Amino acid sequence: MSRFWSPFVKDLVPYVPGEQPKLQKLTKLNTNENPYGPSPQALAAMQQGLNDDLRRYPDPNSDQLKTAIADYHGVDSAQVFVGNGSDEVLAHIFHGLFQHGKPLLFPDITYSFYPVYCGLYGIPFEAIPLDASFQIRVSDYTGMKGGIIFPNPNAPTGCFLPLAEIERLLAVNTETVVVIDEAYVDFGGESAISLVNHYPNLLVTQTLSKSRSLAGLRVGFAVGHPDLIEALDRIKNSFNSYPLDRLAQLGATASFADQAYFEQCQQAVITERENLVQHLAALDFEVLPSLANFVFCRHRSRDAAELAAGLREDGVIVRHFKQTRVAQYLRITVGRPEESAVLFESLQRVLGTTR
Ligand SMILES: Cc1ncc(COP(=O)(O)O)c(C=O)c1O
Repeated sequence: MSRFWSPFVKDLVPYVPGEQPKLQKLTKLNTNENPYGPSPQALAAMQQGLNDDLRRYPDPNSDQLKTAIADYHGVDSAQVFVGNGSDEVLAHIFHGLFQHGKPLLFPDITYSFYPVYCGLYGIPFEAIPLDASFQIRVSDYTGMKGGIIFPNPNAPTGCFLPLAEIERLLAVNTETVVVIDEAYVDFGGESAISLVNHYPNLLVTQTLSKSRSLAGLRVGFAVGHPDLIEALDRIKNSFNSYPLDRLAQLGATASFADQAYFEQCQQAVITERENLVQHLAALDFEVLPSLANFVFCRHRSRDAAELAAGLREDGVIVRHFKQTRVAQYLRITVGRPEESAVLFESLQRVLGTTR
């Protein structure tokens, strides 16, 4: 706090990202990164881009990347917006597409950046409780609202809402923007991008941080009606004309060309998720059904904060949220099989020694 701060900054409550520890020996299962590296084709494209061209500004519109995304998803490139991570895309959506005079609706247990953007942009919100089994009940998203947003699969639960339910929601919400945040959809879910041509108020966001192993590059995008995209462009061009640097545009574009590698990593994560679920169940955890690259679980008799602290002693980092309703849950990212083995060994030690 400083006397030089504006009153606005004094009142901001910023997002706290998952820890990026500097420890040497670490099993890092706390921020849902992909355990496998980026596509070799993406790495090669970026290496080739390390040249004199870097003295020039990048394409402000990322046209090549937009075309790659549009072709991949079978839409027009005028329906695509790209940004510096989907977090930036989401920020522009909150700023430019939600009605600031009415409450935005999102689940009580969800991505914790949403209330932060509401604070940043002065948007009132209503947190709609998930049902007793942590599912989104679309019939609850009624009344006066300034927009609707939720991740699908939801985070941190991992639970997936079928597209038929999203269509049910869209059928009765035609006057406000509905955003489906698909950061984790590639791990077994079904994308609502197939619906954007039927619903002019539907916007779908995705990221290259998870299924394409490019969290360090910061690339995300939104797909929807060109009118929605135009609003995002207006915000972007009033904020930062060049959100994606040259290397990010090259690497991201190349990653969409490497379908075989994408599917190989996707399958490896899905297979390991099943292994994780089985082992956790055998260790007396209750695990929510997940279609993401993480699982959300609760031990039937042990305190979650204590378990997280015990795992940490072994260099195994998982995510524990303090929010009351989920304070007994841990969110564990799906890693490589050898990382799961370290996790299980540590869990056995912690469960055995502190019982
Ligand atoms: C639900 C959800 N949406 C969006 C993001 C942001 O992803 P990125 O900014 O890396 O694209 C995350 C990151 O963890 C997330 O969990």
